[in-house]
Amino acid sequence: MTVAAVVPAAGSGTRLGAGAPKAFVPLAGVPVVVRAVEGLLRSGAVDEVLVGVPEALVDQARLLFAGRPVTVLAGGAERTATVRLALELLAVHGGERAATPEGHADVVLVHDAARPLTPPALIASVVAAVRAGHPAVVPVLPVADTVKRVTPDGIVESTVDRSVLRAVQTPQGFAFATLWAAYAASDVDAAATDDAGLVERVGEKVHTVPGDPAAFKVTTPWDLHIAELLLEKA
Ligand code: C5P
Repeated sequence: MTVAAVVPAAGSGTRLGAGAPKAFVPLAGVPVVVRAVEGLLRSGAVDEVLVGVPEALVDQARLLFAGRPVTVLAGGAERTATVRLALELLAVHGGERAATPEGHADVVLVHDAARPLTPPALIASVVAAVRAGHPAVVPVLPVADTVKRVTPDGIVESTVDRSVLRAVQTPQGFAFATLWAAYAASDVDAAATDDAGLVERVGEKVHTVPGDPAAFKVTTPWDLHIAELLLEKA
């Protein structure tokens, strides 16, 4: 069974405000996307990685990953477009790039470049759950804060029952055929904030495994600061 990981890293990083696409912002001297990809490879559970980056940064990314089992491609305008392009590349049967001579990988992970400190053990646990027969797997954490639904002008409408909510992380793991079918059934530019959401839409059950706080997503300058502090202590 071969495992490929798709890493969407083509976001602009506007909320981070670091003056560079988020995935390329250095975190203790190493670009965020490099840390995310090295974590995947260190897990021992991933055979190859496909990284979707902004078109202007393809050459730079290829240099960053020279000698590693990593394919760099130009990403799309939306996260889903970036993942779709990578899946299309993975689906090409044969050729030098395919994970196996016969074709695509059996298991595919989708992992945000913006989660640079994701523990390799979490990555391995997601792969293990897919291998155990779950066609779609997401790591989740309980939600610590009370969550409210609010109107666009900031008035509280209702309070959501926190006990049934989970915050969803990546990597999300799938049987290749399951994720392929979910993308095939969705609009080219379907708004989805994660890949399991597309799988849910085609009626497939999504299994959860315990997430890890260290797999948090770097979105704001605060997150970057926390990540730097954690690396200093490590
Ligand atoms: O914007 P957000 O933090 O949700 O992005 C999650 C991941 O998706 C990031 O790793 C980002 O680089 C990636 N992304 C992408 N292509 C886009 C937008 C986001 O690959 N057009």
